[in-house]
This record gives sequence, structure tokens and C-alpha cells, in this order.
Amino acid sequence: MNKSLITLDGPSGVGKTTVGKRLAKDLNFDFFSSGSLYRALAKFYQSTNKLLFQDFSIEALAPFRCKIDDLVISESDLYTTYINEKSSEIAQLSEVRGVVFNILHSICNESQRGFVIEGRDMGSVVFPNAKLKLYLDASEQVRSLRRGKQSNNQESVDDIKKRDERDKNRVNSPLVVPEGALIIQTDLLSIDEILELIKEKLELL
Ligand code: DC
Repeated sequence: MNKSLITLDGPSGVGKTTVGKRLAKDLNFDFFSSGSLYRALAKFYQSTNKLLFQDFSIEALAPFRCKIDDLVISESDLYTTYINEKSSEIAQLSEVRGVVFNILHSICNESQRGFVIEGRDMGSVVFPNAKLKLYLDASEQVRSLRRGKQSNNQESVDDIKKRDERDKNRVNSPLVVPEGALIIQTDLLSIDEILELIKEKLELL
């Protein structure tokens, strides 16, 4: 059973993974990126033309590896233009979100340590009772620049805009600021400054 849970939501390219990994390391918590599951399901769809599966197992959290039916999917499979687009598309489906919801809860329950988990609806829908809820934001230009610096995932401003529009406007679990979340506008902040703000908040809890 996990002891503490910190959720980190926000639009794509805002730095949730970078901040989340650093925060988890500093607190000696586990870290997980929920987008990996939507991306893995998009990869499964690309390979099999199916969204429905019989068996799903997580083989490793970091670097992420899972097995869906007979297909082993590694983190390196998950960052392509096709997967960026398809994962956001299938994330609109309530059946897909239900499957991911259950997997996320079992990953979290199995953790012996605290957990930092990032996504679009972690604090609003999946873990509304988390100890600390964070929402990171930044302008589209800054987010595209940050994505550009990730050698494994180049995404244009237009592609990011399109994905955000879909993630914010879908009917099921749209990206919103979770109730009670600390909002951090990150455009002008370094990773260290963001972490400092989060730790100050944690000390007050
Ligand atoms: O965080 P990411 O870029 O790896 O996520 C890929 C897509 O998955 C994103 O465009 C929308 C979807 N997603 C979601 O709907 N809910 C989450 N909690 C995480 C990701």
C-alpha cells in the first residue's frame, strides 16, 4: 500500500515528466507517467488493429515495459508522431479510460513507497484524494521548445495545440485544474525553482 501520493497534471510538453522524476528521486518515491499506458495501447492498436485485449501486464515501471497479449512494448516504442496523435485520440474513449484507471490503481497499490504520478486527470478523476495535487502550465511556445529539446519526441507547436485542444475538450476526463491543486506557471522557472515551490508546499501539509 502506498504511503503518499502526489499528482502532477498539465498540458503536453510542460515538463511534468522531468519535474515528476526529480521530485520522486528527491523524496525516494516511485514515479509513473500515466500517458505511457495510453501510448502503449496506441502502439498495440498500431501493431494489431485492435484496442481490446485479453492480458495486460507491467514488466517494468522505469524504463517502462509492458506486455499486451503477446506484444511486448518498451518505452522506446512510445514516442513517435503516430503514437503522439493516436494516444490522444483513443484517450477520448470511456472504455480505454476505464482500463487505464484500473491499471493505475493497481500500480499505485503495489508501491511500497510514496508515488508521484503524472498525466491529465490524475488529481481530478483518478486520484482525487491525493496528498498533494499539482498543475503545471506554460505557454504553447515554451512547451514546444521544451519538447524540441527531448531528442526522442519532436512535436511542432501546431501538433501540440491540436493534442491539447483534444485533451482539454473531450467529454471523458478532460484536462482541467484539479480542485485544490497548486498551479505553477512554469514559463520563467527553472526545474530547481519549480521543485523548491513544490517542497515548500509539501512542508506546509
Ligand atoms: O503525457 P503523454 O504525452 O505521454 O500522453 C499521451 C496522450 O495520452 C495525451 O495526449 C492524452 C493521453 N493522456 C490522457 O488522456 N490522460 C492521462 N492521464 C495521460 C495521458
